[in-house]
Amino acid sequence: MFSFLKKNKAKTDFSFLGADMHNHLLYGLDDGLQLPEQTIEFVKKMQLLGYVKLICTPHILSGVHPNSPATILPRLQDVKKILTDNNIDIKIEAAAEYMIDNEFAALAKNGDEVLSFGNNYVLIEMSYVAASPYLEESIFNLKLRNFQPILAHPERYSYLHTNFNKYIDIKDRGCLLQLNLLSLTDYYGKDVKKIAKKLLEEDMIDFVGTDMHHYNHLNATIDFSANTKVYQLLQSRNFLNATLV
Ligand SMILES: [Fe+2]
Repeated sequence: MFSFLKKNKAKTDFSFLGADMHNHLLYGLDDGLQLPEQTIEFVKKMQLLGYVKLICTPHILSGVHPNSPATILPRLQDVKKILTDNNIDIKIEAAAEYMIDNEFAALAKNGDEVLSFGNNYVLIEMSYVAASPYLEESIFNLKLRNFQPILAHPERYSYLHTNFNKYIDIKDRGCLLQLNLLSLTDYYGKDVKKIAKKLLEEDMIDFVGTDMHHYNHLNATIDFSANTKVYQLLQSRNFLNATLV
């Protein structure tokens, strides 16, 4: 009786991306998932969405999320074990999402261990309130050490919305850009959606990530309808995600 409704709702499928390289699925480390059972549940759902590899990126933010290789890497091993114990077969790795503050600026410069993934990629982010005064020097110093910085969710920094040249400048400095999938829906608001579409249309986006933290993100991602124009726009672009698998 409702088959016509089903027909209009195409199944959400992100298998063309293959790998998610920005999420908070490692439990108990930051403002993402808190319990091992949640990690199991979310990983299963990510598989149903078409992902075959997950690169988990817990926040590192001094005083708020004081993570380091010493907290993240053992948790990755715990998660690998519980996934194996639950017969879940998926590739899973860990890196981090570094807030660009003075501590990160020092880390980028001083040669201490930086958590990277794939082709020496390092995921960095800024506050939603104001641009980081350490952005340019951090990009420079990371590249000097042969790391390839990726700025997380550039579309979510509202202070950049009126200055599109700043996005171009960040790319010109050799930093890649990662878009959040949900930015293409109304999840973060109309302004974010507008700039997200523009960045995609201008071929400025190198990676796409879920930035998955909790059930609202999961449900909104599952609801990302595969028969919308933004989904077609997404599919029409080439991202580096597939090179990570
Ligand atoms: Fe994130």
